[in-house]
Amino acid sequence: MQVFGAIKGRRSVRTYTDRKIPREHLEQIMEAAIWAPSASNAQAWEFIVIEDSGDIKKIKTFSPGIFGNPAAIIIVCRDLKRAYELCGELGRDTLSLMDVSMASQNIMLASHDLGIGSCAVRSFGISAVKRLYDLPEHVNPELLITLGYPEKAPKSPGRRRINEVVHWHNR
Ligand SMILES: Cc1cc2nc3c(=O)[nH]c(=O)nc-3n(C[C@H](O)[C@H](O)[C@H](O)COP(=O)(O)O)c2cc1C
Repeated sequence: MQVFGAIKGRRSVRTYTDRKIPREHLEQIMEAAIWAPSASNAQAWEFIVIEDSGDIKKIKTFSPGIFGNPAAIIIVCRDLKRAYELCGELGRDTLSLMDVSMASQNIMLASHDLGIGSCAVRSFGISAVKRLYDLPEHVNPELLITLGYPEKAPKSPGRRRINEVVHWHNR
């Protein structure tokens, strides 16, 4: 798939079939994640891939932002200790959040390329995830990405017009 087509064609998918995602496709998706850019190449990220349906059910109980029944969930975390050690306060407070955001977009575009739907979910219980997976204090779950084969193609919610948001500055 061409990059531009993938960028424009990706949609947030919130209804999924019950088809499982092959492990090699999940591995390819995670490979795309780790090749995202990161400030000073700090890569202060950690990813937890959940495929177990019992775990997915549990996560849904404290995640009002999850719709439908995804086949897998990726928990995108940032490691605040690593970010601080490699990039100081700016890394810990700001840059690492940008880094995990870029990795998240890679995950969603790679999934789309494989015919797998995804949805970024911020509306979830951060401390409940930390407890469930016994995460160290310095590892923060920032985003869930739900994955599964789309039940239907979602309509595009559209975008603000390009002329409204892009400002060509010519002297
Ligand atoms: C940081 C972030 C948090 C989001 N949180 C949720 C969420 O909790 N639940 C949800 O259904 N969608 C969530 N979304 C998806 C957005 O609603 C969606 O990207 C937006 O409506 C545009 O639709 P599109 O992705 O199909 O282009 C989130 C997206 C981002 C980037």
